[in-house]
Amino acid sequence: MSKLYVFDHPLIQHKLTYIRDKNTGTKEFRELVDEVATLMAYEITRDLPLKEVTIQTPVSEAKTKVVSGKKIGLIPILRAGLGMVDGMLKIIPAAKVGHVGLYRDPETLKPVEYYLKLPSDIEERELIVIDPMLATGGSASAAIQLLKEKGAKNIKLMCLIAAPEGVKRVQNDHDDVDIYVAAVDEKLNDHGYIVPGLGDAGDRLFGTK
Ligand code: URA
Repeated sequence: MSKLYVFDHPLIQHKLTYIRDKNTGTKEFRELVDEVATLMAYEITRDLPLKEVTIQTPVSEAKTKVVSGKKIGLIPILRAGLGMVDGMLKIIPAAKVGHVGLYRDPETLKPVEYYLKLPSDIEERELIVIDPMLATGGSASAAIQLLKEKGAKNIKLMCLIAAPEGVKRVQNDHDDVDIYVAAVDEKLNDHGYIVPGLGDAGDRLFGTK
């Protein structure tokens, strides 16, 4: 059963407020998203397994712990997912990064793949699919499906803000994928924007309109 985790750390919630604010400009928006991504990476890696090692401190021998070789893959969905990658890599520097590009076919309204480049060993990695806005859930669900078709076995989804509709869609389609967010908002509006949300995450990150 897919679980939904809302990261309620005060620093995440504080920064999210300024990310949402329409008066926050591109430079600050990008920096805040980067910082929240680092904090969310810290939270999402909480269950990484540890193993004991023996080292020498300047004082004595010590039995202590290191992360035990679980390999991580970050999979941003283009383009807004890119805004969270560097922040995550700050504390998971050994992670490999794959990219998924999807566009919505204007006739069928279904997501169509236009770019896919993945680490060669995705079946051995814990993959974190990154999309700041989980709106209808169509892109996230399609990206997860693509990864499964390429052999991925262990997938998490990380978003800044989710709409209840998107959470439901991903949970229905992918029972085995847990979802990690900083907030679940009220709803989607008629244009597919999350309300209250933050607007278009890609445009705000890259200064486009
Ligand atoms: N994508 C965005 O960037 N913002 C939304 O509100 C919904 C989808």
